[in-house]
Amino acid sequence: MPMALIEGDKLPTLKGDGVRLRWLDDGDVAALYEVFSDARVMRYWSTPPWTDRGEAARMIERVRQHFTNGTLYQWGIGAGTPERLIGTCTLAYVDTQNRRAEIGFALRHDCWGRGFMSCALSALLQYAFETLNLHRIEADVDPRNAPCIALLDRLGFQREGLLRERWIVNDEYNDTVFYGLLRREWSAPVA
Ligand SMILES: CC(C)(COP(=O)(O)OP(=O)(O)OC[C@H]1O[C@@H](n2cnc3c(N)ncnc32)[C@H](O)[C@@H]1OP(=O)(O)O)[C@@H](O)C(=O)NCCC(=O)NCCS
Repeated sequence: MPMALIEGDKLPTLKGDGVRLRWLDDGDVAALYEVFSDARVMRYWSTPPWTDRGEAARMIERVRQHFTNGTLYQWGIGAGTPERLIGTCTLAYVDTQNRRAEIGFALRHDCWGRGFMSCALSALLQYAFETLNLHRIEADVDPRNAPCIALLDRLGFQREGLLRERWIVNDEYNDTVFYGLLRREWSAPVA
């Protein structure tokens, strides 16, 4: 088994502007279900919206297992006072040999358009490049997913190629646009 990049018994908490990236626990089931059962959030996801609350508990269990084997790191995104869970962001397919990972993210619909995910991903990229010493972050995006593409553009990702009919979701074949960000292209936030 490859060596896990992150040691310890859980993910570190990361702070962004107005957001906190933190470990998901059993108390997050209801909030996770709200995010991933919303058809607007899941429109361009690789799976249909959840219809069963058990999916949220299973996600938390998978997150723990992946953390242990070092292949995927998924943080909950907290914001507001009192803080509530508004989404998640993930480093998936973590490849230690090639120092790359794929980024994934979802935000509850009533939080779109306020910069929460930009701030969360800026903190995640800083951690991925500076602390985990990754070289390349990838994103696999439906070409119709305009808010996601706008966000990746803002963060400096480059469009690298179109992969045709890569996913089948609800009997629909969906294309993918691959985006990539290299460490040397990434601008660290000014301290
Ligand atoms: C992709 C997704 C997270 C983007 O959400 P978002 O709210 O548009 O993204 P941001 O948090 O970066 O917010 C950007 C918006 O907030 C505004 N904004 C306000 N303050 C801002 C700040 N401090 N920094 C950046 N943007 C800010 C921007 O102007 C922009 O508004 P606009 O969309 O009207 O141009 C969201 O659409 C989503 O969860 N989609 C469903 C899941 C999904 O498809 N994920 C991607 C697959 S991996």
